[in-house]
Amino acid sequence: RVARISDDALSIACGAEAVAQAFEAAGCTVERVSSWGMHWLEPLVEIDGIGYGPAMPADVPAMLDGTSAKCIGKISDHPFIAGQQRLTFARAGKTRPLSLEDYATTGGWAGLNRARSLEPAQVVAEVLQSGLRGRGGAGFPAGVKWKTVAKAAGARKYIVCNADEGDSGTFADRMLMEGDPFQLIEGMAIAAYAVGAQRGYIYVRSEYPHAIAKLNAAIELAAGIIAPLRLEVRMGAGAYVCGEETSLLNSIEGKRGEVRAKPPLPALQGLFGCPTVVNNVLTLAAVPHILTEGGASLYDSLGVDRSKGTMPIQLAGNIKHGGLYEIAFGITLNELIYEIGGGTASGRPVKAVQVGGPLGAYIPPDQFDLRFAYEDYAQADALIGHAGIVVFDESADMGHMARFAMEFCAAESCGKCTPCRIGSTRGVELIDRIRAGGRGVDAVEVLPQMHNARKTRRSTEDDIALLEDLCETMKFGSLCALGGFTPYPVLSALKHWPEDFRP
Ligand code: NAI
Ligand code: SF4
Repeated sequence: RVARISDDALSIACGAEAVAQAFEAAGCTVERVSSWGMHWLEPLVEIDGIGYGPAMPADVPAMLDGTSAKCIGKISDHPFIAGQQRLTFARAGKTRPLSLEDYATTGGWAGLNRARSLEPAQVVAEVLQSGLRGRGGAGFPAGVKWKTVAKAAGARKYIVCNADEGDSGTFADRMLMEGDPFQLIEGMAIAAYAVGAQRGYIYVRSEYPHAIAKLNAAIELAAGIIAPLRLEVRMGAGAYVCGEETSLLNSIEGKRGEVRAKPPLPALQGLFGCPTVVNNVLTLAAVPHILTEGGASLYDSLGVDRSKGTMPIQLAGNIKHGGLYEIAFGITLNELIYEIGGGTASGRPVKAVQVGGPLGAYIPPDQFDLRFAYEDYAQADALIGHAGIVVFDESADMGHMARFAMEFCAAESCGKCTPCRIGSTRGVELIDRIRAGGRGVDAVEVLPQMHNARKTRRSTEDDIALLEDLCETMKFGSLCALGGFTPYPVLSALKHWPEDFRP
């Protein structure tokens, strides 16, 4: 008998190794595959197409004789999987991550082969036509970026994959790199062919050692297929801001991970001053499918308005059925959280969800009919970001979460600009003061006219107005998204849960 068990970091953390050993001890062949992305069921075991999870070593005999109460039936028929439109994650759960054979027999390299049969400019045109937008967060059209790099003058050009997945509640990049690394490599090879690059870097956060190991092994295995492109993995050192493209480039160059002013855009002067495509893992991994099918036929037909194609949405936080859910744009939070996610893991009512990482807005349940699309979220003063959804139940203190956003910004600020470097620290103090009802030493402001200094006590209303003013300064005066987007969680928490800012 063959037992298929994921070797994804999450499955390993949930005990997959011990389960695999127990199957081997029972005389079975164990195949390590990628994860299906049903995280609440990990370690998930598949025997003859039937799934069992979360599996423990003691469950092995019952799983083998088919009497286990942990049986979930045919995995591909499970509602969590059957409801998805998996393109980027089409191989999830089905293939061995480092098997070139599995990759090729499931459509691997077809996109690259087709791209190579076209002129580079045609490849760019297909990506443009597909409507693919940057999946890292900003949603900038990938084809426009590629076109800029293709047309830019430069002795060398680079492809850089941003795999510094730092947003809270996100794991799609990691799952893709661990579960289907050849797909990312193929996407980078297509991008390189389209813009005329021969070197590429994958910048991965140090917290992802399994992904780094898989990528290094996969690059070695695929070297002959992707030549003349040469790829290298570069490991980050733990700074959230190195996910911002210009500090990421500084980091690859061996410099301090400080944000560079734009312009010049990396597309014109990026890595080592040369034209550079910087794309997120999911953007590049979507490309092989687009090229295989043809830009106009696939992505273009999925999604809503200018949000085309599918998005691997990540359900996390206090949710019963957390995991990876890839679906066309347009789905609502109501569907994602209640129908697919099954509500909170704690069983208490949902209070808020944060979409788009630590810099995303908190959304209250009465807005859960919002369509998952870039423009719809922007209109609601929210962000899709990297599509991480973190659920909070009614026990969450949103005033505390707003404080955390400012604290996070202060800790992660690169220090280059004042609104972020100083504003975030002042923001923490201000929220503390508001939550203390204006009490405490900080509530007394000493005016600078020294000879007739007088003390004024500000009201909480004044402090809230000051916080809103500070957020406005950070939003419009910061050099990058870290300082610029911190106001989203702060102001959304203040707007929807003002009671959580009272003492
Ligand atoms: P941005 O809007 O400044 O730029 C988006 C991309 O388009 C950049 O690569 C930029 O160089 C490129 N671009 C803009 N105009 C161009 C042109 N005319 N030609 C060619 N390329 C052009 O946004 P930014 O600062 O790069 O990213 C902000 C986003 O990052 C936020 O939306 C946030 O959600 C996301 N983010 C994602 C994280 C993650 O873990 N994935 C972490 C933190 C933030
Ligand atoms: Fe650096 Fe913050 Fe300014 Fe971004 S907003 S450049 S992280 S100081």
